[in-house]
Amino acid sequence: MDIATPPLVHLDATKRSKPLEPLDRLIVALDFASAAAAMELVDQLQGNCRWFKVGMELYYAAGNAVVEHLRARGFEVFLDLKLHDIPNTVAGAVRTVARAGASLLTVHAGGGDAMLRAAVEAASAPDSPRLLAVTVLTSMDAEQLSGVGVCDSAGGLVGAQVLRLAKLAQAAGIDGLVCSADEVGAVREAMGLGPNGEGPLLVVPGIRPAGAEAADQRRVATPAQAIAWGASMLVVGRPITQAVDPARAAAAILKEIAQGA
Ligand code: C5P
Repeated sequence: MDIATPPLVHLDATKRSKPLEPLDRLIVALDFASAAAAMELVDQLQGNCRWFKVGMELYYAAGNAVVEHLRARGFEVFLDLKLHDIPNTVAGAVRTVARAGASLLTVHAGGGDAMLRAAVEAASAPDSPRLLAVTVLTSMDAEQLSGVGVCDSAGGLVGAQVLRLAKLAQAAGIDGLVCSADEVGAVREAMGLGPNGEGPLLVVPGIRPAGAEAADQRRVATPAQAIAWGASMLVVGRPITQAVDPARAAAAILKEIAQGA
């Protein structure tokens, strides 16, 4: 499917003929409580960022207007709403948020086959975002997964669950996946994807430059590691948004992405 406004980057990794530039591979998470606070950071990152992620915190405060505003300023938007509900409700949500012009939208793979297929069907309408399925949150480790009843330990608890959900999402027709850097190589292999970014987008959060605080994240990697292990795009929040000099932090990560590629 094509998006309405000409994209700044070639979104369709399956048709990409050359590797993405570092600027196409960094997504900065605008985890702020207001559009004003988010735009302050956007202004500071001018020239160091093409992609911004709007997650629950900002979307619940500012809605589609903030997505439209970012699009009008020429940025690509990753709308990270992690939809997870009954199929009919998720399909409706996909249709409602599609109007804002985001390029990527997340659903939880754990919502199951019927929910994923309903989301894919809803996103087949013209101008809809591409769908990414979140596998296992990067804030979860094996102990937390077994705490919610995921007890299959074949191949390692977290890795096995990520692969299970990745295959489910791929079969349902999802365009890409969100997983941690730890699993990205295994996902590429299991899904029969090449090492150089062909196929569905593999988007990796839990990125921490050397020496940065992990905070609530559990499965973390440096930008260079995540790229070297097979990530298509990286999601970075606090290492940039909480930095003393966000533009400098973003520039350093872009440099690491270039080195890891
Ligand atoms: O600040 P930090 O770099 O940890 O932010 C990571 C961002 O990526 C957050 O906005 C979070 O919601 C998102 N995310 C994640 N793990 C996932 C999917 C999304 O951390 N599996």
